[in-house]
Amino acid sequence: MRCDPLQIGPVRLATNLLLAPVAGYCDLAFRTVCREQGGVGLACTDLLSPQGLLRGTAASLDLAQTSAFDRPVGMQLYGSDPTIMADGAQWAVAHGAGVIDINMGCPVDKVTKKDGGSKLLTDLPRAIAIVRAVARRLDGSGVPLTCKIRLCWHDRDFAAGRACSPGLAAALADEGVAAVTVHGRTTEQKFTGSVRLEGIARVVEAVRGRIPVIGNGDVRTPDDAERMVRQTGVQGVMIGRGAFSAPWLFRDVWARLSGAGAAAAPPDLSEEGKVGVVRRYFALMRQYRDDHYAMHHIRRRISWFGKSLSGGACRPLREAVRLAETPDDVEAALQAHLTGALRAPEPVPGGPALRLPRRSVPSPVS
Ligand SMILES: Cc1cc2nc3c(=O)[nH]c(=O)nc-3n(C[C@H](O)[C@H](O)[C@H](O)COP(=O)(O)O)c2cc1C
Repeated sequence: MRCDPLQIGPVRLATNLLLAPVAGYCDLAFRTVCREQGGVGLACTDLLSPQGLLRGTAASLDLAQTSAFDRPVGMQLYGSDPTIMADGAQWAVAHGAGVIDINMGCPVDKVTKKDGGSKLLTDLPRAIAIVRAVARRLDGSGVPLTCKIRLCWHDRDFAAGRACSPGLAAALADEGVAAVTVHGRTTEQKFTGSVRLEGIARVVEAVRGRIPVIGNGDVRTPDDAERMVRQTGVQGVMIGRGAFSAPWLFRDVWARLSGAGAAAAPPDLSEEGKVGVVRRYFALMRQYRDDHYAMHHIRRRISWFGKSLSGGACRPLREAVRLAETPDDVEAALQAHLTGALRAPEPVPGGPALRLPRRSVPSPVS
C-alpha cells in the first residue's frame, strides 16, 4: 500500500490522516498531543456555533482556541442559516482556520432540531445554499471548504440502495467543495452498529477524479485504516475515538499507509513513553485552560488512555486518577503506576479505597 499525502484544494497536508472533530474531546491540548506524536495531516476543532463565535461567547472562543503549532487546523461550523454560516466562516479564517468544514453529520437532537448537522442530509436545497454562501465568502481567501456527512438519515434508505450521500457529494463537488468526509453510518445508527464501507465506496465512486473523499468510522489500528482504503478507495482516513487511547496512532497508521514497510514502522512506545503522553496532555490542558478543566478531563479520559497502558495496572490507575483532587495527585498516580506502586490487589468491597503513595486517600469527587 502506498497512499499519498492528501491535497485539499490549495492545502497540501503532510499525510492523508485527519484527527476527527469530537465534541468535548479534541480540544487544543489533545490536538497538540496527537500532532506531537506524528502522522496527523489535519486536525479539526469540535463543532462550533457561528453565532457563539460572532458574539464572542467564552465557550465558543475556548472551543476555537488554536496555536501556531496547531496547523493546519480545520474549524467546523454547524447551523442552518447560510448567511450566519458564511459570517462564521469569515470569523474562523480571521482566527487561524486553514480549512472550513461544515457539519452535515451530527445526529444530536439539539443540532438537528434546528435543521443543522445531519438534518442537512434530508434537505439538499438548504445544504447547497449554505455551501454556496460559505464558498462565496471564502473566495480568494485560499481556505478550502469541506463537508462532513453520513451515509443518509434512515437505515431503510441505505438498505434499499437509496442513500443520499453519493448524490450529495457530487452536488457538493459541483459547488466547489474541496473534499468530503464520510462517516460510514446512517444518522439512525448514531454511533452504534458497524461502519458500512460499501456506503463510503459509493461516495468515492460518485466523485471519482473530482474531489478526494476521506473515510471515517471505527479505525483503531493500521489494519483498520488499510482495510478502509482498500475496500473504499478513499484518499484520506479520519480517526476519532481510536486516538483517545493512542494519540500515537496516526504515526503508526501513516507508517503503514505511506508504504514505509514493517521494517520502517516506528517502535512501540514504552510504558514510560505512553505515560509521558498522558502527562503532556494534562500539562497542556492546564496551560491552555485551567486546573479545573484539566482535572475534569483527565478523570474522564484516563480510562481511554488506560486501554493502551500495561493491562493489569490500568484499573488501579484509573481509580487513583478519578479520586485525585489536585494536579499533584494526578502526577503521584502516574508516577506510582510507573513504579509499580499501584499494581495492588483489587480493593475489598467495603474495604479501604485504593491508596496512593505519600498521600491520604482523597474522598471521591462527584
Ligand atoms: C462524543 C462524540 C462527539 C462528536 N462530535 C463531533 C463533532 O463535533 N463534529 C463531527 O463532525 N463529528 C463528531 N463526532 C463524530 C466523529 O467525528 C466521528 O465521525 C465518529 O466518532 C466516528 O469515527 P471514529 O470511529 O473514528 O470515532 C462525534 C462523535 C462522538 C462519539
